Amino acid sequence: MSMKAAELFDLKGRVALVTGASSGLGTQFAKALADNGAAVALVARRADRLAEVKKAIEAAGGRAVAIEADVTDRAAMTRAFDAAEKAFGTVTILVNNAGIAQSPSRAIEVSPEEWRKVLSIDLDAVFFWAQEAARRMLAAKTQGSIVNIASVLGFGVAKGVAAYATAKAGVVQITKALAVELAFKGVRVNAISPGWFVTEINDKYLMSEAGEALKRDIPMGRFGEEGDLAGALLLLASDAGRYITGATIMVDGGQVVQIKG
Ligand SMILES: NC(=O)c1ccc[n+]([C@@H]2O[C@H](COP(=O)([O-])OP(=O)(O)OC[C@H]3O[C@@H](n4cnc5c(N)ncnc54)[C@H](OP(=O)(O)O)[C@@H]3O)[C@@H](O)[C@H]2O)c1
Repeated sequence: MSMKAAELFDLKGRVALVTGASSGLGTQFAKALADNGAAVALVARRADRLAEVKKAIEAAGGRAVAIEADVTDRAAMTRAFDAAEKAFGTVTILVNNAGIAQSPSRAIEVSPEEWRKVLSIDLDAVFFWAQEAARRMLAAKTQGSIVNIASVLGFGVAKGVAAYATAKAGVVQITKALAVELAFKGVRVNAISPGWFVTEINDKYLMSEAGEALKRDIPMGRFGEEGDLAGALLLLASDAGRYITGATIMVDGGQVVQIKG
C-alpha cells in the first residue's frame, strides 16, 4: 500500500458539498478540495458570489457547481443534494461550514428570535445536513466523510456570545454522536475548530483595537490565514484520515488550550 502523501490525500473521484461556500472559510475549503481532485458543490444563499467561486475553481482546472440554498430550508436542502448528485454523483464529502455570528448582547438580553436564528443556522442545520448526507451515503453504500466547522467558542466562552458558543459546543457533540453511529458503515464524522480568521463574519471586530488585543493573546501571535485550515480539512476529508472519526481538530494557533498565568 502506497503511503505517499500525494496519494493518501488525493480526492479524485470524490464529490464534496460545502455549505457557506460564497465567502470566507467556505470558499477556502471549496478551493482546497477542488485543488486536490474533488468535484465540489458550492452552497449558499448569494448566487452571484457562488458563481464567482465556481469560476475561480474552474479557472484553476477544477470542477464545481453552484447551488443556491438557505441551510435552514429543508426543501432547499433536498434540492441541493439532488443537484449535486445530478452534476457529479453521490456526495461523499460534506463540509458543514455555513454559519452566522450572534449580534453581541448580554445573555440576559438575548431575544428568543436571536437565539432561534443563531441556533437554527449554527446548530440545527449542521445536524440536518449531516443527516441528509449520511442517509444518501448509506443508501448508495459508499464511504464518506463529514466535516463540521465548530469554533474555539465551542470550548471556551467570551461575553456576549451565549447563543453562538452554545451552538458550537453542540456541533462538537453532534460530531461525536454521528461518528459512533456511522463508523460501522464507513462514514466518518469529524470537526475542525478554527481560532480567529479574518472574514466577513468578524472583520470589523478583529481589525479594531479590541482585535489587536485579542491577537496578542494568541500563543502564535497572529490570526489564522488563508491556507491554515487546508491541512486539517484534507486530512479529515481524505483517506489520510481513514481511522479518524469523532475527533475535533483545533486549528487556532494554541488559543483554546491556553490558561493565562
Ligand atoms: N472566521 C472565524 O474566525 C471563525 C472562527 C471559528 C469558526 N468559524 C466558523 O466558520 C464558518 C464560516 O465562517 P466565515 O468566517 O467564513 O464567515 P463568513 O465569511 O461570514 O461566511 C459565512 C458563510 O455562511 C453562509 N451562510 C450564512 N447563513 C446561511 C444560510 N442561512 N444558508 C446558507 N448559507 C449561509 C454565507 O453565505 P450566504 O450569506 O451567501 O448565504 C457565507 O458563505 C462558520 O460556521 C463560522 O462560525 C469562523
